[in-house]
Amino acid sequence: MNYNFNNQLLHYGKHFIDNSDIKEVIKVLKSNNLTQGNTIINFEKKLSRKFGSKYAAVLSNGTAALYLVGRVLNWSSKDIIITSPITFLATANSIVYNGAQPDLCDINLNNYTIDVNRLEDKIKNHIKNNRKVKSIIGVDYAGHPCDWKNLKFLSKKYNISLINDCCHALGAKIDGNEKYAIKYADIVTHSYHPVKNMTTGEGGAVLTNNKIIDKKIKLLRSHSMIRNNETKKKGLWNYRMTEIGYNYRITDFQCALGINQLKKLEKFTKERNKSAKFYDKLFKNNEIFQIPKINSNISHAYHLYPLLINFEKVSISKKLMFEEALRKKIKLQVHYIPIYLQKFYKDKYEFKINNFPNSNIFYSREVSIPIFYKITKEQQIYVKDTLYKLLKL
Ligand SMILES: Cc1ncc(COP(=O)(O)O)c(C=O)c1O
Repeated sequence: MNYNFNNQLLHYGKHFIDNSDIKEVIKVLKSNNLTQGNTIINFEKKLSRKFGSKYAAVLSNGTAALYLVGRVLNWSSKDIIITSPITFLATANSIVYNGAQPDLCDINLNNYTIDVNRLEDKIKNHIKNNRKVKSIIGVDYAGHPCDWKNLKFLSKKYNISLINDCCHALGAKIDGNEKYAIKYADIVTHSYHPVKNMTTGEGGAVLTNNKIIDKKIKLLRSHSMIRNNETKKKGLWNYRMTEIGYNYRITDFQCALGINQLKKLEKFTKERNKSAKFYDKLFKNNEIFQIPKINSNISHAYHLYPLLINFEKVSISKKLMFEEALRKKIKLQVHYIPIYLQKFYKDKYEFKINNFPNSNIFYSREVSIPIFYKITKEQQIYVKDTLYKLLKL
């Protein structure tokens, strides 16, 4: 099939901005508050209503959100924080920024999220060796929620705090509930980077039902500066700082975009699901491919469409297929290089490749093929035809 791209690459993911988004941003750009104004507060209210948390604190990005979670939970050098190796660097890095010890638990091959059975063995092993597992960060990979019911069970059993790095799963549901993330996790983090299911350009948030945590995050995001009636008594200019803080603020015009994007999240997710179902049809009939599986009680958000290709059974390597696909204007991606393969983590924490059999298989096969709001069936067929041709199927 020939496809007219107007020289545009078909990306594994991209944002969607319409005139109403632009209008809302311009309104704020013409106002007196570009930052630290009411649009931020408004966005936070709408996020907590949509995702069912009592509180939401918006931030400059999702990495800042994860880092500040570690700060408010007082992670320290004696604490072990367990996450999945199949995640973006930011998840693991946030543990290191806080001076805590990252540990990685292999994924399951059903939905590529953390394997809860292996996780319990890991926790028991740490306890046996007198090590404290302080938090677990579940990653709802590609938009498929983790096994949160069992994660919650483990967190209660072993008194471990539970964090959902929910950056991929905005719009996903468990048992029809889009507020599932805060139902199970103590703290939920978001990213609104443009490839995510909704965007603020750069941006992120921490959602929680804990008032103290929310208050702390909101202080830390702005240099931990306290300005209140007490400080004003000493002079109207006065402010107080008792611990180190940061500038992790987001602007009001980004939040205006966020509010308008949030209104469209349901539509975005529905359309992503339709596109995913179409890919399922196109790829399900060849044993070389493994299409994403979904647990029966799950509504997927399809931030990504991870297609597994068994490269052992074809004559082209993954590397060459990526290069050839790019020549055909398809920008594939891999999500992700497992954290334990990164030199920094390999050298410093001595992770052993053999401890991650599922992640190893997954990494050798995973290819993120283009999925985004408004991808056309014609484009999807082009992706399928191109891959079939390159794989000589
Ligand atoms: C799973 C996951 N966690 C954290 C992040 C970090 O978010 P941000 O890019 O907004 O800092 C991302 C974003 O790429 C992500 O995919």
